[in-house]
Amino acid sequence: MIEFTPEGAYANAALSPLEQQAVKWLDGFYQLEHLLCTRMWAMKLTPEASAEVKFASLVHDAERFFPGGPPSTPGNGFDDPDYLFAHSTRSANIVEEWLRARTPAPEDNFIRRVRHLILRHEIGGGWEADFVQAADSLSFLDSLDWITVDWVKNGYYTIAGAREKLDYTVERIRPSNAIAAALPLYESAVCALDAAHESGHDLKKRREIAGSRRYLLGLGKVN
Ligand SMILES: [Fe+2]
Repeated sequence: MIEFTPEGAYANAALSPLEQQAVKWLDGFYQLEHLLCTRMWAMKLTPEASAEVKFASLVHDAERFFPGGPPSTPGNGFDDPDYLFAHSTRSANIVEEWLRARTPAPEDNFIRRVRHLILRHEIGGGWEADFVQAADSLSFLDSLDWITVDWVKNGYYTIAGAREKLDYTVERIRPSNAIAAALPLYESAVCALDAAHESGHDLKKRREIAGSRRYLLGLGKVN
């Protein structure tokens, strides 16, 4: 079943000043909640997560906020490397450009490591990238279950087609603690998807919440 995230769910996220700026930058992006949720999962999976792991988790899908990227509903399967590489590279470039435009800009080493992790967020490789990928997967199941229902309702995919995204999302996870955490989320996302045609949820509202910094951080009327 699709949950509506409570207002202020990420009020205690303890974002660094740079992370706060990034959330402002991406305010209005329908995947903002997914990004905050990915950072949360990265920290749950690896309490010792580095600043780079946390930051990369928070911005890994940034490119989808800016028109001109590859379609996020690919026609050649969700594991199509052409899509995955185009998406990851574009995100890494956009984030690097944004980081370099900060005053003062973060250290070169930080930017390089963040770039590396964003480039690998779909494919993993190396334990930190494996955790970012796992956190992204868990976060998709946790915070974006509604989007697979939306895809079906809008005719992008059949239920079976959208299910491939959920299957792929779970199958690619490597760390065993993340696999264990993913299974109940997967089950509930599959149930929501199976009921897509009967779903009476206001998905427009759900999408709005998912992109609202004010709502997610519980900032009330302050912007
Ligand atoms: Fe993601």
